[in-house]
Amino acid sequence: MNSTRITLACALALGASFAHAQATGKLKIGLMLPATGTYASLGTAIENGFRLYVAEQGGKLAGRDVEFFKVDDESDPSKAVDNANKLVKRDNVDVLVGTVHSGVAMAMAKVAKENKTLLIVPNAGADAVTGPMCGPTIFRSSFSNWQPGYAMGEVMAKKGLKKVVTITWKYAAGDESVGGFKEAFEKGGGKVVKELALPFPNVEFQALLTEIAAARPDAVYTFFAGGGAVKFVRDYAAAGLKDKIPLYGAGFVTDGTLEAQGDAASGMFTTLHYADSLGTPRDNAFRLSYAKAYKLQPDVYAVQGYDAAQILAVGLNAVKGDVSKKAEFAAAVRKARIDSPRGPFTLSASHNPVQDIYLRQVGGKDNKYVSVASKALADPGRGCRMQ
Ligand code: BEZ
Repeated sequence: MNSTRITLACALALGASFAHAQATGKLKIGLMLPATGTYASLGTAIENGFRLYVAEQGGKLAGRDVEFFKVDDESDPSKAVDNANKLVKRDNVDVLVGTVHSGVAMAMAKVAKENKTLLIVPNAGADAVTGPMCGPTIFRSSFSNWQPGYAMGEVMAKKGLKKVVTITWKYAAGDESVGGFKEAFEKGGGKVVKELALPFPNVEFQALLTEIAAARPDAVYTFFAGGGAVKFVRDYAAAGLKDKIPLYGAGFVTDGTLEAQGDAASGMFTTLHYADSLGTPRDNAFRLSYAKAYKLQPDVYAVQGYDAAQILAVGLNAVKGDVSKKAEFAAAVRKARIDSPRGPFTLSASHNPVQDIYLRQVGGKDNKYVSVASKALADPGRGCRMQ
């Protein structure tokens, strides 16, 4: 063999062993979630759900052992690019999984796109992630902020409510949740008469509660989540508003929070893509398995983490574990029907779940299923040019 041939043979062998390593070594998963702050418990539930699915597969995905790399993103958008780069550039992860906060998720989507890294978003609903920022390597296992808001707008308009005040945190999730709500509510004949907001993660609600009492609307629509949601619902009741002006919301305001909210949340109606009493065999099995593993009841965040792992498994199985085959990975996920505890769902052309949104009512410690508020609701994916 002459030297050119030897060099070529070596290069081919090296390439083959690199591809082999990509498909057979440990699969590196970068978990970027909040471990501190108002969304810390949401991050824990997502990680629990993700790990539960992996454990159910014997600790492997597509035959590959899994290794986790973790960063606490603190729900802080100003640190998000650096945090995502730690996982992508320092730890060289094969896939990014995160996060809870919409502002942080948008930074992750930017990093994922620039580096052509797979990203699965297990909560943050930022409309832009499956809108203008959409991309072939970006998938969401949760919802868009628009979805539960839009469903609740329809529900409240159908109830004949006319005059509503909204209250939320001033950032993408709050703005977009209210935006979805307002779109459907005003289409249905209602009017949003006042939009109140405070900076994330501020919980000094008193002045705004006084404004609500003075405005005397038919009802209030809200988006809060985690620790902030606990305090808001308690403060609303303590201000004497609970029995005077009914409080409705995107379901995050009562998910994973009921233990701490106690009676202050009782009877509240919310809309979300999960409920505590679906009673399907799939959900029953999931709830049992989660409770056994963690001695806790699951919530919507746990389901979204579990389904993020399911989406990853679908893509990985299609490419036999070789994450370099991004187009084939995406094609498989786009065709898939994810067998979620929430009920089966598919992904839209912009990679957001097309799913039933449930109307739920708080009873005891549960968000009880009432009805399907919006069947197979697809986010419009405004501004997404998939390429
Ligand atoms: C968000 O920032 O997108 C978000 C945070 C918590 C619950 C739901 C949405």
